[in-house]
Amino acid sequence: MTIVVTGAAGFIGSHVTAALLARGDRVVGIDNLNDYYDVRLKEARLARFDGNPAFRFVRADIGDRAAVEALLPDLRDCTGIVHLAAQAGVRYSLENPYAYIDTNVTGQVAMLEAARHLPRLKHLVYASSSSVYGGNRDLPFSVADRVDRPLSVYAATKKAGEMLAHAYAHNYGIASTGLRFFTVYGPWGRPDMAAFLFADAIVGGRPIRVFNGGDMKRDFTYIDDIVAGVVAALDRPAPPDDHGVPHRVFNLGNHRCEELMRFIALLEEALGRRAEKRMEPMQMADVPATYADIEASRRELGYEPATPIDVGIPRFVDWYKSYHKVT
Ligand SMILES: NC(=O)c1ccc[n+]([C@@H]2O[C@H](COP(=O)([O-])OP(=O)(O)OC[C@H]3O[C@@H](n4cnc5c(N)ncnc54)[C@H](O)[C@@H]3O)[C@@H](O)[C@H]2O)c1
Repeated sequence: MTIVVTGAAGFIGSHVTAALLARGDRVVGIDNLNDYYDVRLKEARLARFDGNPAFRFVRADIGDRAAVEALLPDLRDCTGIVHLAAQAGVRYSLENPYAYIDTNVTGQVAMLEAARHLPRLKHLVYASSSSVYGGNRDLPFSVADRVDRPLSVYAATKKAGEMLAHAYAHNYGIASTGLRFFTVYGPWGRPDMAAFLFADAIVGGRPIRVFNGGDMKRDFTYIDDIVAGVVAALDRPAPPDDHGVPHRVFNLGNHRCEELMRFIALLEEALGRRAEKRMEPMQMADVPATYADIEASRRELGYEPATPIDVGIPRFVDWYKSYHKVT
């Protein structure tokens, strides 16, 4: 099978690419290698596929609709799309909202239009986010919950992405599955997320910023569990729902609501250094807690997260130390 992976140089995209190549698929990876964070990390992730004849990399901006259209003739064999390219990050959406519209809304439409024109395509899987649950207070978050109260532009664009996929499934019968990821961490992770930010500060002897006085809970999900969920979803094209529309949405979380302070303590232990904690108020666009109800994902995808944070954090730290040559 030939699968298009957008965001292939990204954290989750590079791991999904590795898993698809390992099972014998061919992968066309698309990424614009933007500088939202250190481009060298993106290049290093891609370098792992150097010399693999089953992998082809295309540098393109999915927000540029003409650029995506120009790729279509070369993608005619493609049977699946794993669409992970996005402008990610809740806090940055306060600074630069247009980046989110360009990639997460216009880019989502460009990929749905691409799906429409690929003759062998069976399924499009795309990344959504736990942030669509906004300030919902009922935990765990269920896919049946109301999700029309986003707290950030990022969350609003992710919800928009789900609705656009639904419209394309309805209008053109394009089978698609949205995956709401819950705080993913692990080797090759994102430098703007807690595990990496905290590790950088702890190793550099700088204070870490702990929001809401540390009273935060997150469903931290290890990358291997996410990859297993993405591949399971890809292999099961969405069947028509009760209204005949082949679109559905799943939560991919760890189904454990962990205290942020425990996450930090495990990082300190794995790094063998104490963090200097600077307590700060809650940030405007942040949510105090996330917790995934994964019943539907278990039932329909066979999704079974297997990595608690006391196993996943030491694995992240091992990678972090070897990548940054920290002794
Ligand atoms: N990591 C998480 O905890 C998390 C949580 C919820 C949702 N998500 C979603 O999962 C997906 C992957 O996230 P990630 O953590 O791997 O992020 P990432 O930033 O590491 O990966 C995204 C990749 O997309 C690329 N990209 C961005 N804009 C692009 C554009 N216009 N054209 C082409 N490529 C572009 C980036 O260069 C990057 O390599 C995203 O859709 C994100 O919103 C991630």
